[in-house]
Amino acid sequence: MVGNVTLVHNGIIENYSELKSYLIQKGVNFNSQTDTEVACAYINYVYENMKDFKDEDERKLKSILKACLDFRGSYAFGIIFKDTPDVIYSTRKDSPLVIGLSDEGNFIASDISAILDYTKKYILLNYMEFAKIEKDNVTIYDKNLEIITKKINEATWSATECKKNGYEHFMLKEINEQPSVIKNVYSRFFENKDENYSKVDFSKYTNIHIVACGSAMHASLIGKYLFENYANIPTTVEIASEYRYKKLLLTPSTLVIIVSQSGETADSLAALRISKENKATVLGIVNAVGSTIAREADITIYTHAGPEIAVATTKGYTTQVATFACLVINAMKQKNIKYDFTLENEYNNIDKIIQSVIDKTNEYKDIAKSLSNRNDIFFIGRGNDYNMCMEGSLKLKEISYIHSEAYPAGELKHGTISLIEEGTPVIAIATDKELYEKTVSNIKETKARGAFTIFITTEEFKDTYTKDFADITLFLPTTSLFNEAIIIVTALQLIAYETAKLRGCDIDKPKNLAKSVTVE
Ligand code: AGP
Repeated sequence: MVGNVTLVHNGIIENYSELKSYLIQKGVNFNSQTDTEVACAYINYVYENMKDFKDEDERKLKSILKACLDFRGSYAFGIIFKDTPDVIYSTRKDSPLVIGLSDEGNFIASDISAILDYTKKYILLNYMEFAKIEKDNVTIYDKNLEIITKKINEATWSATECKKNGYEHFMLKEINEQPSVIKNVYSRFFENKDENYSKVDFSKYTNIHIVACGSAMHASLIGKYLFENYANIPTTVEIASEYRYKKLLLTPSTLVIIVSQSGETADSLAALRISKENKATVLGIVNAVGSTIAREADITIYTHAGPEIAVATTKGYTTQVATFACLVINAMKQKNIKYDFTLENEYNNIDKIIQSVIDKTNEYKDIAKSLSNRNDIFFIGRGNDYNMCMEGSLKLKEISYIHSEAYPAGELKHGTISLIEEGTPVIAIATDKELYEKTVSNIKETKARGAFTIFITTEEFKDTYTKDFADITLFLPTTSLFNEAIIIVTALQLIAYETAKLRGCDIDKPKNLAKSVTVE
């Protein structure tokens, strides 16, 4: 609180030190180092100096608008003035904000799941729109402070979906939802229940840029693998925070795909906007319905994973992979590329196959015991297996706080193998027939240097497999290449989960991490 103004802020005011120096010159004192206090003080300063207004309401709204024009960065604000403690003023730029509407009162939150216990009705604000929120009334204004009418949305998620429903952690609950949500992605596609797939005409595009962050970027690597190997479309995967500042070689025949569970990730959103400014067609693969990326993409395909509460994504990632599989099948159909319909047959049983992976709890617990007291862990694999390693490694490090790295198995001897010492856990993934022997040679190289080796492969290799190089072996069901990452990564999620549990970590809310990264 500063003077007349109290506020809550989600985002970052990038030019806060500039504004702070200005306010200090004007005699304002500060109690903290935060940009939020500067935002609060600046709105208060503008408010106190605001002349030329019809009434108190106009003065408050105008001071918020004027201050926001001077802020650089991102914000969602809830603002209360001292003399009207029952009124919340609100506005946003680049940070998410929902205004929940109910008969018992109205409120603001940064995520739909936070309001579902009270209401399913909500309003979304655009940049330079302002809300005055009272117990029984919500008024929305445009940038000229004229009253406007906004659409009232109805959330499709239920409050029960946002509860643990008997599971010890949200992460475990969400892992266990994968059989049904993956089946749902495929049935929506194969039973033609989602018209958005047909809006993407792959015959028009000569190349694809997939842009995302974190696990969504790892799912995109699987997408790249499938697009290149099956639909013959050259595809690059770009980290959103890099993409937004690099030279974009976009042509009218480039399709840009932005992948985001939350639909609010700041870098991914910026990449979307830059791509659109460059006249590219943008396809969004998004989970959160009505989120900013979903709204701003030219075409949006929802992954329908339902609310994901645990910071570490699980069903968010696997539904993105399944959505890529559907897109690639569609691209093949459109380009008349022959395929053997394995996926179409497989999807009928996919829920049971994933469930059989989840049910190997004791095996994950055993692996977790061998990892939980280690400081460094390596994941190795080749080709698409390496892409899965990246997600397995991220999952493990983010929730168990054990340092881990994913390496292309053939790259180890170019440096990293020097880190392997007695007992260092090395998790090797080998699911690809063409690369199996190569990965086995690489795991043997680490074993020879004292590594504790965990070998993850599929049942099709049971006959050729020799026991001599692995301390622990995990056999998982054999599926088509379209579903392999879903199967393997589900197991890696559970290994990470059991390891973090043994270490007593705060699994759903790992330190230093936020569920959606709405700042740059
Ligand atoms: C993964 O477990 C992380 N929480 C993180 O890497 C996440 O996938 C990334 O921040 C992207 O989020 P998004 O899918 O909501 O855009």
